[in-house]
Amino acid sequence: MSATETPDRDALADFLPLIAAALDNALPAAEGCPPRLRSAMRYALLAPGKRLRPALVMMAAEACGGAVAEAMPAAVAVEMVHAYSLIHDDLPAMDDDALRRGRPTCHIQYDEATAILAGDALLTKAFETLAKHFQPRSEAAAAVALLATAAGDTALVGGQMDDLAAENAPDHTLSQLQAIHRRKTGALFNAALQLGALSAAATPAQRAALEAYGDALGLAFQVIDDLLDHTGAAEKLGKQAGRDVQRGKLTYPALMGEAAAREHADQLIHQAVEALGLFGSPAWRLNWLAQYVLQRI
Ligand code: IPE
Ligand code: IPE
Ligand code: MG
Ligand code: MG
Ligand code: MG
Repeated sequence: MSATETPDRDALADFLPLIAAALDNALPAAEGCPPRLRSAMRYALLAPGKRLRPALVMMAAEACGGAVAEAMPAAVAVEMVHAYSLIHDDLPAMDDDALRRGRPTCHIQYDEATAILAGDALLTKAFETLAKHFQPRSEAAAAVALLATAAGDTALVGGQMDDLAAENAPDHTLSQLQAIHRRKTGALFNAALQLGALSAAATPAQRAALEAYGDALGLAFQVIDDLLDHTGAAEKLGKQAGRDVQRGKLTYPALMGEAAAREHADQLIHQAVEALGLFGSPAWRLNWLAQYVLQRI
């Protein structure tokens, strides 16, 4: 089977129990950590998400000829960054949402101060996890720097800042919207893939191919998230739909219309799959995941 054929087998399903067990073990009770803080961190981290980012780490490792077990600390670290970003994204000062992953958001279940601190602590724990457990050890510093950059001011946090600044503001261009989406969502997808590659001692050509795949997939994922907010239902999404319009968010359907946004997502997924050619069959899961992301709309 080549990387561009889509198999029937569910490429995510094998990984989910491994990821669930690793996340469950990631935050043991520790002296000095208040039980309520740990409880809020676990509430956010273990809530039933799709686990796409940790799966991408493992899929990239596999595509580059590595072992998925070696990629697990990075997979956990990336999901910690994601969980933190969701806690903060839902806060009253940001998107002000009450439903996440089919459950009350962290600040509703606990309180705002606990949610802010749980987010901060998860973000920090991600880097501790990489620094302590990433293999090979010699690559640990590169792995920490890679995730720190993707999580920080020039990427995820910068994108989130501009996303809020763009609410209800007139005169936006497609390139501004793309720059927001690439940073707030795409950067963490790319970091997940590069961490998997690093754990598998990937070649520069393999890393470049994963970057091309990640650029297209990450952007497509947020275009599709925008479309689902536009057209989806809360029961299926596990979060309230229609919120982007209510908050005057700059999104793909708002800027170019629903049909053009769908077409754009389709093209991006096509580009992502094309980028996998170099890997052959070990990249079948990455190919599957790109189709899966598209099929959500
Ligand atoms: C939601 O991401 C946040 C965005 C970047 C759009 P996911 O849709 O992957 O959320 P979970 O992890 O499945 O809850
Ligand atoms: C969230 O984007 C991006 C990050 C959390 C970094 P959205 O605000 O569109 O995500 P949802 O729709 O609330 O999941
Ligand atoms: Mg947001
Ligand atoms: Mg949001
Ligand atoms: Mg959204």
